[in-house]
Amino acid sequence: MPSKSLEELASFCKRRGFVFQGSDIYGGVKGIYDYGPMGVELIKNIRRHWWNSVVYNRDDVEGLEASLISHRKAWQYSGHEDGFSDPLVVCMKCGLRMRQDKMVDTTKCDSCKASELAPPKDFKLMIGLSVGATEGELNAYLRPETATLTYINFKNILDCTSRKIPFGIAQTGKAFRNEIAPRNFLFRLREFEQAELQFFVNPKTDMEWFEKWKADRMAWWTDIMGIPAERLRFTEHEQLIFYAKAAFDIEYKFPYGFDEVEGVHNRQDYDLGSHTKAQDEFDIKAKVRKNTDSTAKLSYTDPATNETYIPFVIETAMGTNRCFTAVLDNAYTEEDFGDGNTRIVLKLHPRLSPVKAAIIPLAKNVPEIVAMAEEIRKSLKFLGTGRIMLENSGNVGKSYRRHDEIGTPLCITVDHQSLEDKTITIRDRDSMEQIRLPASELRDYFANFYRTL
Ligand code: GAP
Repeated sequence: MPSKSLEELASFCKRRGFVFQGSDIYGGVKGIYDYGPMGVELIKNIRRHWWNSVVYNRDDVEGLEASLISHRKAWQYSGHEDGFSDPLVVCMKCGLRMRQDKMVDTTKCDSCKASELAPPKDFKLMIGLSVGATEGELNAYLRPETATLTYINFKNILDCTSRKIPFGIAQTGKAFRNEIAPRNFLFRLREFEQAELQFFVNPKTDMEWFEKWKADRMAWWTDIMGIPAERLRFTEHEQLIFYAKAAFDIEYKFPYGFDEVEGVHNRQDYDLGSHTKAQDEFDIKAKVRKNTDSTAKLSYTDPATNETYIPFVIETAMGTNRCFTAVLDNAYTEEDFGDGNTRIVLKLHPRLSPVKAAIIPLAKNVPEIVAMAEEIRKSLKFLGTGRIMLENSGNVGKSYRRHDEIGTPLCITVDHQSLEDKTITIRDRDSMEQIRLPASELRDYFANFYRTL
């Protein structure tokens, strides 16, 4: 059973160290969040599993980590500087700033219900910068997506890897948008993270690859993130943006309804074409080449057929924070045992759990028990699965509850019997069942439990 509301999830995330409001002690900044000790592990695990499946488990994708700050021209030629905006409506009575396409009723203020609204105007979403000793000249932007930086590195990567089409370039990293109205916890942020793949194909095979990537990405959400298929769906874009040939959103069923977590787009040759045009114009200005061949720059020549073309791009664009929210929401479970006892348990797939095991000494003041627990922690941590915690609060019940809430799959308890017969107990998070094992078998048990992750 997922969470009842994103407010409930947000307060759980704060209490258990997943997510905090950005600049919290100074009153916070809307749409900006920090990831706490548990959140940082979960988001890293999501990122790692995206990278595993998009890069490591294939042989046709390269990685890239481009800068967050980029040249203004990149965003002029990508079309963002002119076109990347949302319609802003300001209430003349209470001053509320609203995104027109998200208003409850476009004739009334969402807050005070006044009908005195200023006419909508285009509000630019990119955050401009003045980099260097330029005295305020707008010469760069914080990137609003990773994709454009992939396109402008296309030639670099093609040249240094000798890749042949089809192949892809993957990036994970931060993006920034000056959203008018951040909302729904981590859903609409001003600073967020994307995991985007740009897959370059021969224009004759674009729809074949589009369908392949659509299927692959949905399978990742169900099989790797562990989200049941009935909580996910595809929605086709009703109105295609001018450069797209096909576009679908993957949507997750949040507490307030289905909403977008990832896009799969056929962007045709728009991006490489625009940046090629830019390069040609620079050449003309620099009088390098008068008669420009617009396919000369970010194009590809097939070594087998000698055919030269601008590759089409199939893009898969996931919001990592939206994935994080969906994964947490789906895992959040309240159990009522009917005897007055309840628990919150985060039924995360073990591959995503922030803590892989908690080692709990039953008596915190018995040095031999604590020493044995510490030994176990050391031996498991070297297996490299992730964080192993020693939980030495002296209250086993509380430790179990705490680890249920952060989704730790296994709790390993060392008690007085352990000192006598060198056994330990392992408690399973979901069934709460416990088994007793010789401590000497624990490493194998643990390695086996995490082997397929
Ligand atoms: N390169 C294409 C691109 O950026 P997009 O649909 O604008 O496409 C892709 O963004 C994904 O990034 C979205 O599906 C969403 O998951 C995430 N995303 C976009 N804007 C966001 C925001 N303001 N806050 C959080 N995630 C966002």
